[in-house]
Amino acid sequence: MPAVEIFEVGPRDGLQNETRLIPAAEKVALVDCLSQAGFRRIEVASFVSPKWVPQMATSGEVLGRIARAPGVRYAALTPNLRGLTDALAARADEVAIFGSASEGFSRANLNCSVEESLARFAPVMEHAREAGVQVRGYVSCITDCPFDGPTAPAAVAWLAGQLLAMGCYEISLGDTLGRGTPERIAAMLRAVLDEVPPERLAGHYHDTGGQALANIAVSIEHGVRVFDAAIGGLGGCPYAPGASGNVATETVHDWLTERGIQTGLDHTVLHQARDMAHALRGGEGHVSDIDA
Ligand code: HMG
Ligand code: MG
Repeated sequence: MPAVEIFEVGPRDGLQNETRLIPAAEKVALVDCLSQAGFRRIEVASFVSPKWVPQMATSGEVLGRIARAPGVRYAALTPNLRGLTDALAARADEVAIFGSASEGFSRANLNCSVEESLARFAPVMEHAREAGVQVRGYVSCITDCPFDGPTAPAAVAWLAGQLLAMGCYEISLGDTLGRGTPERIAAMLRAVLDEVPPERLAGHYHDTGGQALANIAVSIEHGVRVFDAAIGGLGGCPYAPGASGNVATETVHDWLTERGIQTGLDHTVLHQARDMAHALRGGEGHVSDIDA
């Protein structure tokens, strides 16, 4: 059991924002490399509308073609029942619902209010439970929303509590814009910890402001032991203007290791995967290879 777990989200959160439509084979190669690094969980897919996020249209194919490593759970985002049905058909090992602590981002990202998003998530939870598949819950905009401005910690705590009560096994707290600072992350965590115990929380920090490692440090002080990261610092959210990539997995790994905190990850494989991620971003594949 690693002291801190890094949940790899690069193949989903990282790639979803790339403008070049990356062929499924290139995504599969990246996931297959990551599968050798020692992760317990890798988010590889997103069953959302292809009109909203065209890059994720190959999600079923990716899940179907990866070489599944023993002990690794391959995760997918599922905003509604249609997404869950498709994720189960593609044999996702776990799924995630994703809500926003702010109304503006909820409307931009899910085309509905926060309350309406919870109503859509209810049947996802019910069917996932029947299928024996665990559901993770994301809360976006934990410090700032691109549309509504600063987010009140109480709004984050409320949604995190709702997702926990619905049956999510873990709540991932998303600094979608990457504008959080340690002081504001600490204030947010103090509110959230009234609703959700630290062992059920994860930090999901984009690194726009260069504060992600400091935000991880303050989260560790508050008892959080799981952090989402994207190999090569890939990423951004298409519905969060101004957001840059997730904090880079290899950076978090090196930073934790220097502090004597074990992640269970293989440095050499991580750096191979980082090079692959950078090549994907650079567009070394050929657009003509894209599956129609
Ligand atoms: P909508 O338009 O309100 O939904 O979108 P709808 O039910 O009216 O359907 C519209 C069309 O989408 C229909 O097709 C549906 O069939 C189709 P049409 O009749 O027009 O041809 N559709 C679907 N297709 C495939 N899979 C589905 C699905 N559902 C409907 N599951 C909807 C609502 C949720 C679908 C849309 O808003 C959407 O896809 N949003 C996803 C946006 C997204 O993926 N954002 C990025 C991920 S979130 C993120 O990155 C943040 C995170 O990293 C944490 C953080 O950093 O904060 C998690
Ligand atoms: Mg994200």
